[in-house]
Amino acid sequence: MSLPHSIHVVTHPLVQHKLTKLRDKATSSTNFRRLLREIGLLLGYDATRDLAMVDVRIETPIEAMDAPMLDGKKLVVVPILRAGLGLAEGVIDLVPLARVGHVGLYRDPRTLQAVEYYLKLPQDISDRDVIVCDPMLATAHSAIAAVDRLKESGARRIKFICVLGSEQGARTFAEVHPDVPVFAAAIDAKLNDHGYIVPGLGDAGDRLFGTK
Ligand code: URA
Repeated sequence: MSLPHSIHVVTHPLVQHKLTKLRDKATSSTNFRRLLREIGLLLGYDATRDLAMVDVRIETPIEAMDAPMLDGKKLVVVPILRAGLGLAEGVIDLVPLARVGHVGLYRDPRTLQAVEYYLKLPQDISDRDVIVCDPMLATAHSAIAAVDRLKESGARRIKFICVLGSEQGARTFAEVHPDVPVFAAAIDAKLNDHGYIVPGLGDAGDRLFGTK
């Protein structure tokens, strides 16, 4: 399957191993939560490779040196509620000084369109790199709507991380937001009539929070 250039599949063995555990329906909610957080950290690691750096003068116990540190304001991590919370935890582990914004969207089960019910973002979002988190890029309606809102709010450098995408969702997202790189653990071939990814991992929110 050849994917648009903005879609990156993270093939690291640890990511793939943890993804298989996530997909397994025998995995408990507790383990699902832990695995989602760990995958969030690993995808976040890949998504932050190109953050701007600056040399600062420090003194080691031996002598002074110029050493690299992150430049400018820290990231904003934006989980799409509610399943995005589980993935965002891992990115926040990686960048503890990150700000956290929230986008609340639910899928209308009839039309599968995204309906917004909550939006809270840092005011200086245009000065920060933004990482949007949602485990599932299924139809891409929620992801597109979330990135639309972020751009309207001034965000300029946005990345999107997800555990699983559908091929259709990945292509649709890349068409609408080609400037937003996507980092995914895998892209599955199909979506079913209810907009679920096949084979997928089921309902990420329900499995994360033990609801249903
Ligand atoms: N949301 C989920 O939680 N799972 C899917 O397969 C698709 C959307």
